[in-house]
Order: sequence, then C-alpha cells, then structure tokens
Amino acid sequence: MIPWEEIDRAEVPGGEGEIILRKRGTEFSIRAATTELMNSRLHGSEDALAELTCSRIKRKSDQRILIGGLGMGYTLAAALQHSGDDSLITVAELIPAVIRWNREHFGHLAGKPLDDGRVSIQQEDVAETIRRKKSTWDAILLDVDNGPDGLTRKANDRIYGMNGLKNAFFALRTGGMLSIWSSGVDEQFTHRLKQCQFQTEIVTVRARKLGKGARHTIWLATKS
Ligand SMILES: C[S@@+](CC[C@H](N)C(=O)[O-])C[C@H]1O[C@@H](n2cnc3c(N)ncnc32)[C@H](O)[C@@H]1O
Repeated sequence: MIPWEEIDRAEVPGGEGEIILRKRGTEFSIRAATTELMNSRLHGSEDALAELTCSRIKRKSDQRILIGGLGMGYTLAAALQHSGDDSLITVAELIPAVIRWNREHFGHLAGKPLDDGRVSIQQEDVAETIRRKKSTWDAILLDVDNGPDGLTRKANDRIYGMNGLKNAFFALRTGGMLSIWSSGVDEQFTHRLKQCQFQTEIVTVRARKLGKGARHTIWLATKS
C-alpha cells in the first residue's frame, strides 16, 4: 500500500481550523481535522449535482450558473459538459489554497475546468456572491461543507437557514434552480425550502458511478 504524503495545508478563513491536501499515487484527498472532505476517486454524486441540474434548466441559451465551492472541480467540469457554449459559470470558493491546488496539483483529474473560457472564479464566501445579485442565476449549485448540517464550518449554516434560502430565491431568475448536495437527508431543510416557495424534488445518488458507494442526497429546488 502506497503511504499518504502530505502536500500542503491551509487555514479556513474565519479561524475555523485548517484543511490538508494529501496524495497517494495518483489519488488526492482534502481533509479537515476529523473528516475527509473530498477524495479524487469519489465524485459520482458531485457530477450528478451538475448533470441533474443542467438537464432541468429551462433556459437553453445564455445560461448563468453559480457554483459554490470549487473542491476538486468535478461539479464544475460536469456543468461545463452539460451546458452550452454561450453559458457563463461563476465559481465562488472560500479558501484561496483550494483554487491554487486546482491549478498546481490536481486540476488535470477533472480536465482542468478552470482553464475553460466560460468560467470565472471568485475567492469569496458563496453566501456573499448569492446575496449581492438579484434575478441573475439560472442555477445555483451548492456543495459546500457536508450539506445543510454543516460539518467543517459553522458559518455555513447561514447559507442553509431561512435567510440564506430567501437570498438564493431572490438571486435566481424565474424558473431557476437551487441545487444542494448533502451527505444525508434532512427533513427540516426540505421544510425550509418549501416555506421559501421552492418546488422541491429530492434525489438520492451514489458516491461512485454505476450505482455504487454511499448514498448522498441532492435537493433540486425550483423558483417557479
Ligand atoms: C466538498 S468540496 C466541493 C466539491 C466539488 N463539488 C467537486 O466537485 O470537487 C466543498 C468546497 O466548498 C468550499 N467552501 C466551503 N464553504 C464555502 C463557502 N461558504 N463559500 C464558498 N466555498 C466554500 C470548500 O473550501 C471546498 O472547496
């Protein structure tokens, strides 16, 4: 068994701990203190987040898509694959090192999606990106932390609370979709989405392609 090698570590802004980048052969892993946030071998549900969303976006040209956060870029790569040549995709990533690691260490694994001319990357909290603009996005894809039950960053709870969901609702164009990745189901969160007038569909996806691996949850919430 090839041992893990530590490549780098970085602070999470706001003094909320640090994340560690490790490598084992061709495999990369990003860890927080007690848990693995991302592993390059497992991205079936990250891909599905974009595939499910893009197949449902009503507007077929000039799509404006917001993704938070970048991680290893698999959701971004799938969104690029499933949207048009005239789409524009903004990625909001909180941790500067994650953007740098994509450029320097593992971007090739997802096909270097940051190099695509349709992509712009902003180093900021996606809650701010959402709050700043009204009626702008055809889709907002959220895969920050562990889902509505934030694990690594307490401040992320505000994205999934009532105010955060209302901000997302106003940031979407009519017919737009808010899509959220989660490691598990959360009935209170579904209830909050409905309270915010979203039409909500819940899909269970597997961590690996071909229906294998852990079960993850994706909410597809439409501003109708
Ligand atoms: C699980 S990873 C995303 C994986 C990604 N979907 C992929 O395909 O590789 C979560 C990412 O969200 C970022 N993040 C966490 N909180 C954030 C926030 N409030 N705003 C923007 N990015 C955030 C983390 O730094 C990390 O890069």
